[in-house]
Amino acid sequence: MNKTIEKIVSLCKRRGFIFQSSDIYGGFSAVYDYGPLGIELKNNISQLWWKDMTQVHENIVGLDSGILMHPKIWEASGHVGAFNDPLVDCKQCKSRYRADDFSEDYSSIDWEEIQCPKCGTTGNLTSPRQFNLMFKTHVGPVEETGTETFLRPETAQGIYVNYQLVQGAMRMKVPFGIAQIGKAFRNEIIARNFIFRTREFEQMEMQYFVKPGTDDDIMNDWKEKRLHFYLDKLSIDKNKLRYAEHGDNELAHYAKEAWDIEYDFPFGWSEIEGIHNRTDYDLTRHEEFSGKNLTYFDQPNNDRFLPYIIETSAGLNRMLLTVLADAYWEDEENNRIVMKFHPRLAPIKAVVCPLVKKDGLPEKAREIMDILKPHFKVIYDQQGSIGKRYYRQDEAGTPFGITVDHQSLEDNTITLRDRDSMKQERISIEQLLKSINNSI
Ligand code: GAP
Repeated sequence: MNKTIEKIVSLCKRRGFIFQSSDIYGGFSAVYDYGPLGIELKNNISQLWWKDMTQVHENIVGLDSGILMHPKIWEASGHVGAFNDPLVDCKQCKSRYRADDFSEDYSSIDWEEIQCPKCGTTGNLTSPRQFNLMFKTHVGPVEETGTETFLRPETAQGIYVNYQLVQGAMRMKVPFGIAQIGKAFRNEIIARNFIFRTREFEQMEMQYFVKPGTDDDIMNDWKEKRLHFYLDKLSIDKNKLRYAEHGDNELAHYAKEAWDIEYDFPFGWSEIEGIHNRTDYDLTRHEEFSGKNLTYFDQPNNDRFLPYIIETSAGLNRMLLTVLADAYWEDEENNRIVMKFHPRLAPIKAVVCPLVKKDGLPEKAREIMDILKPHFKVIYDQQGSIGKRYYRQDEAGTPFGITVDHQSLEDNTITLRDRDSMKQERISIEQLLKSINNSI
């Protein structure tokens, strides 16, 4: 099977997972809209993450901070000064590149000697200039000095500036975590690979506040836990996941140590989540810029300190792309495409199909819809041959197909089809809810 990103993009459009933004206006670069199946899948993934963080861990609580914040926050965080990518232009064809796509050590490149990958001319690439990735905006009706701020490029800062309020209100004791899911914005120079790198995206970040000195061990714990999330909760193929450590020249301005969880996408191994030891960098900077004391008082030990922060930072859209790429399967034997989502992730859990549109079968099928729909997402389909109906749902990744036939009217049984094996078994309507619930 030749799994390409183009095939996944096409299925996503065809089945209503993901559309390019502003489609009727010719599209809007590097922004995507999530269709009916895409939003269900995205919600299923983010709910699993939220539960894993804030329900399974008693010492992690949630937060939802604003996208717009005090502009000083972005000076303190270092984003105004250091959140830059090196940009190179071609004077001939006007193409734009990230200098570090040519070489990590791009500062030693002689740009006069480099050929433009698009137009093929040499000597037309400019020297790299630093380009800040934050989107600027103005607050209030008049654009004047003092009204400028930024759309947040990460959700993390909203957690740092609220950490003492959360700690006090919830009586949290170090080590404790604060989790947040929300939009982030980056004016990426080059957006590519579908939803992998976009200008508007969602992050799922958890900041874990720890006592300095315990940070290395806690970082190792979180590395293990986060990898298990992909294996146990998202059921991702373990051979397609790996850890990669950031070298000294790749470390973000705030990090002492950083590891990426990478997935083997059709376009190669790429980062889906970062686990970072941010030390006390952020809290120190916010103390400096706000003038507030942000230390934590450890009462039992009569000790006061500025916590270190271990961060787990995942892109929800990248996680979704991982799930899509991992699930995509061309079943050549049966000439069909199947999205093999784990039933727990599937946007729709079951399709209910009357075999024919008459003889009381639609009414019986509707009774089954009424039994199942309070519990999970199910759809009703009576259009086309039963084979076509199933194949449509195979592409949508619906794990169960329920067919109501004439026998159903006599003995209250239906056939239950398994998406992956295509095997069908006859079971009673009474057993149906339990049987599906057991698998999700
Ligand atoms: N708070 C730390 C932070 O933001 P990051 O490595 O810059 O770290 C974390 O981003 C995660 O956010 C990445 O692993 C990725 O999943 C996601 N992400 C970053 N930029 C993205 C973009 N332009 N489009 C989609 N996801 C992105």
